[in-house]
Amino acid sequence: MSERYNLSVIIPTFNEEENIAAIIGAVNDVCSKNGIQAEILVVDDNSNDRTIPIVQDIVRRCENVRLIVRMNDHGLSQSVVDGFRAARSDILLVIDADFSHPPELIPRFYEAIRGGADIAIGSRYMKGGDIEEWPIKRRIISLGATAFGRVLFPEITDPVSGFFAVRREVVDRAPLAPRGYKILMEVLGKGRWRSFVEIPFVFRDRAEGESKLRLETMLDYLRQCCGIIWFSVTHRTGPVWTEWTKILRFGVVGLSGIFVNMGLLYVLTEVAGLYYLVSAAFAIETSIVNNFIWNDLWTFNSGGRLRFTRRLHRFVSFQVVSMGGLAINMLILYLLVEVGGIYYLIANLAGIFAAFAWNFMVNRHFTWKN
Ligand code: GDD
Repeated sequence: MSERYNLSVIIPTFNEEENIAAIIGAVNDVCSKNGIQAEILVVDDNSNDRTIPIVQDIVRRCENVRLIVRMNDHGLSQSVVDGFRAARSDILLVIDADFSHPPELIPRFYEAIRGGADIAIGSRYMKGGDIEEWPIKRRIISLGATAFGRVLFPEITDPVSGFFAVRREVVDRAPLAPRGYKILMEVLGKGRWRSFVEIPFVFRDRAEGESKLRLETMLDYLRQCCGIIWFSVTHRTGPVWTEWTKILRFGVVGLSGIFVNMGLLYVLTEVAGLYYLVSAAFAIETSIVNNFIWNDLWTFNSGGRLRFTRRLHRFVSFQVVSMGGLAINMLILYLLVEVGGIYYLIANLAGIFAAFAWNFMVNRHFTWKN
């Protein structure tokens, strides 16, 4: 790699004549003020406004600025991947051209990677982050996309952010094949990384020009998520695989709990002669204990020499969450049967599914948060 540059700033562009000169100037200013030797790569999809001549003019004057004009496979994410390939330093940062991402935060990303993180992510959804001046429709779409992304990467508050930095090794041999806008999801799903940090930022809607986000972009996103899941299943590696393994294990443990519950209910009622509701109370509690033990030792792998009090704390949390799950199951069963007129066994399936989702999500984030 070049010893000359210690940061490559990649700016994907399509029709950014109003912003491009200003963003290049701002990136150059902030980097030179902070002692960062940065190269700037503008990766343009053959814009039909004046973006290309403007950048060509800057390239003539500034030797750290390069322009890549792409003629095929139009797309924001594809452009960023081309930027990764052309970059000449070990730290790669992606930023929009339209000042939605504050360039003054670049040194924090740079320092985060130098400090040991593999990926530094600009987050709009953590404390200190925000979005300014977005229409309600755009907010809803973004929240939906982010929620979906968090199913795959639950620890990351903004896995669809377009403002991030990454260590070169993370993407170097990764089979990135993104479509659409969510390049970070591709990097998280297929790149080789262990650690990440999030840096809060306020996303400002573009000052000039308009967003190029279209319905097709959202369909691309869904396709991309399926591709990431498929990749993780076939390669059995990465954070998505780890997460899905947990979901599967949680499901297996849940099934074992059903057997414990049913078996005990039968034995206590039929063999020991207890009243069936008394048997049911014992059976439910025993299945909760069963599920806790297996989830603690296997699903979330919290074995080892952990203090008894911490395990007890987790057990109490699991117990409370399970009760919540039971209530959700009963409520859905009741509503679907009484209000929706649905056959009770089908209604119960919906209840079990909702309770499972609740139990997994809440336990994942609270009971076994580390
Ligand atoms: N090369 C290239 N090709 N660049 C593109 C293309 C394209 O097809 N489409 C957009 N860009 C560039 C724009 O010129 C701008 O620099 C940047 O990508 C963002 O484009 P916008 O169209 O303004 O994006 P946005 O504001 O809707 O989306 C932003 O926020 C999303 C999070 O909600 C981006 O940062 C996304 O990456 C991010 O996911």
